[in-house]
Amino acid sequence: MRHVMVLNSKGGCGKSTLATNIAVFFARDGHQVCIADYDPQRSSLDWLAQRPADLPAIGGVAAFEDGLRNVPRSTEILVIDAPARVYGTELNELVRRAETIIVPVLASSIDMKACGHFMAELLEIGKVSRKQARLAVIANRVREYTLIYEELDQYLTKLKVPYLGCLREAQNYVRAYARGMGVLELPEYLAWPDWKQWEPIGEWLDSKRSQPTG
Ligand SMILES: Nc1ncnc2c1ncn2[C@@H]1O[C@H](COP(=O)(O)OP(=O)(O)O)[C@@H](O)[C@H]1O
Ligand SMILES: [Mg+2]
Repeated sequence: MRHVMVLNSKGGCGKSTLATNIAVFFARDGHQVCIADYDPQRSSLDWLAQRPADLPAIGGVAAFEDGLRNVPRSTEILVIDAPARVYGTELNELVRRAETIIVPVLASSIDMKACGHFMAELLEIGKVSRKQARLAVIANRVREYTLIYEELDQYLTKLKVPYLGCLREAQNYVRAYARGMGVLELPEYLAWPDWKQWEPIGEWLDSKRSQPTG
């Protein structure tokens, strides 16, 4: 079973939005996917409850209550939606559960500063420094051609971590969440700009670069 975690100690940066869309990405590829929601706010589980029956099925477990013990054995891809405000030993514990970690970052000075501290802590963790967990960052809720986006883009480019590009700020994410869908499941005429932005993320997730060797 592969474990893909969406992680950032900052709240509201798009962890659940990314986790649900990553789950959809793998489910559309025919994989058995389950979401483990570690956040008592249950955003991923609430999303799952709305998922239409005619779309590829995705499982869900309330990991904030029971950990991962209820994850079905048939699961191929476990997408882990992490809570906000995890530091220290709790962060270490969480990181132990994943081989692939994606960190969404918002284009705001507060979020970028917080991301700097968080990345420093994350890169210190043995599993990450030994490259037993592969890390990538994504700029989220981006308004292109804004100064703050340019700043974030430059900042993320300089980090010593793969930078998979940006996701624009779009109602499509809000719409898809409310319907238990991913933006990849919205009609092309509405969501093609979002589909384009998911291409490099999908490529990375499908490649060896997001999976530790050995
Ligand atoms: N790219 C995006 N475009 C528009 N709204 C977004 C985008 N990403 C996240 N959001 C919205 O931002 C809010 C916080 O996102 P969420 O995924 O719940 O963050 P977290 O799980 O990190 O707290 C939600 O209302 C969500 O719908
Ligand atoms: Mg969340």
